[in-house]
Amino acid sequence: MVCIDYSSINIAKPFHIGHLSTTVIGNALYRIYGFLGYKPVGINHLGDWGTQFGKLIVAYKLWGSKEDIEARSITAMLELYVKFHEEAEKNPALDEQARVWFKKIEDGDEEALSIFNWFKELTLKEVGKIYDLLGVHFDSYAGESFYNDKMQPVIDELKEKGLLEFSEGAYVVRLGDDLPPCIVLKSDGATLYSTRDLAAAFYRKKTYNFHKCLYVVAYQQNLHFRQVFKVIELMGYDWAKDLEHVAFGMVSLEDGTLSTRKGKVVLLKDVLDKAVEKTLSIIEEKSPGLENKEEVAKTVGIGAVVFDTLSSARIKDITFSFDRVLNFDGETGPYVQYTHARCASLLRRADFDWAAADKDYTALNNPEAFATAKLLYSFPDAVARACEKNEPYLITRHIIELAKAMNRFYYEHRIIDEDKAKTAARLMLAACVKQVLKTGLYLIGVGAPERM
Ligand code: ARG
Repeated sequence: MVCIDYSSINIAKPFHIGHLSTTVIGNALYRIYGFLGYKPVGINHLGDWGTQFGKLIVAYKLWGSKEDIEARSITAMLELYVKFHEEAEKNPALDEQARVWFKKIEDGDEEALSIFNWFKELTLKEVGKIYDLLGVHFDSYAGESFYNDKMQPVIDELKEKGLLEFSEGAYVVRLGDDLPPCIVLKSDGATLYSTRDLAAAFYRKKTYNFHKCLYVVAYQQNLHFRQVFKVIELMGYDWAKDLEHVAFGMVSLEDGTLSTRKGKVVLLKDVLDKAVEKTLSIIEEKSPGLENKEEVAKTVGIGAVVFDTLSSARIKDITFSFDRVLNFDGETGPYVQYTHARCASLLRRADFDWAAADKDYTALNNPEAFATAKLLYSFPDAVARACEKNEPYLITRHIIELAKAMNRFYYEHRIIDEDKAKTAARLMLAACVKQVLKTGLYLIGVGAPERM
């Protein structure tokens, strides 16, 4: 089994473009590992713990309404949260109330928990819509709060092993000269993000006995994961080496127009909607007669965004541009999808049973067909390398090259002519390309329409 921790959104916070990479890289890895015969476990390690939830409850009780939250969900929660901070500047007593409410959540107070769980439910419902659009799936939503009762044994073990030290007002584990100490408990006994990740690693090892446990999280958390992994290593567990931080760079928008009223937060939903809308207008222009235009626009528009996110090495920062990602002639998702649809159309156009017909493979005796066949042959290797390095872009690049090679073949040679045996051989190549493009797109989480 391979645990893959990805997306891992925060409750009551908008699903913004910052969560795009973790979601699509994680989803691609999930598919790639599954395809190669591993049993992947998709984990959404929800950010559902922390004093901010005390603040949210106070704000809700003072200024919120049930109807408004039901109607506007995360947007309304975010507004309450912002208002809390504005008001707390003037009235510090609010912070104290927030602490009290957070403590109530911790102590399992019924009212506190019911409000908190309601926020959580609404957030997940909203986020679930985006997961549906992206075709993303999770096997577990065990988030930070899930580990409330699972941290003590880890803390006890750290104590027993003499690894826990009181230093500068907190309990820490010293990690040697290369790394700053990992804070495990605050002086008042409060746990931290790291404490929860320690408990989560042990829980995952025990529950899934993973072969690898991946954390698809932005490179900003590099230090955090190095510390957590080191603590486990110092505790004497050799599986610490199987924990891996799959880091990635930042995504920003080239055109600032998508910023919401709230400032810099760019909602992923808005980006996806806009991609679909723009794709639809391209389709209206290019192929107005197409059936299920809306459906195709969805697959192509969303696919374009996903494809672009997986087009370069993870660690590179990406500046997102609609013109680039939706370019049907560039190295884009739509280009690969279009090549797939072109192969599908060739196969539809053949007016004889080419699969059963005798084939004259001398028709493929040319540099274009040979280059195409070579890329088909090396596809499994690209998938294996993508898995080994946790780099889905190795598949993305491969299918771009394959699509280019196929198009060169298509432009240089007539595929369907009077010679049936030669035509059958060329169609066989088109069928293989179609199959591999479809598989490659699937592995990176992108759909492949038959017509576009
Ligand atoms: N919720 C965190 C964030 O948005 C990411 C959590 C990643 N996973 C983990 N096990 N720490 O920054």
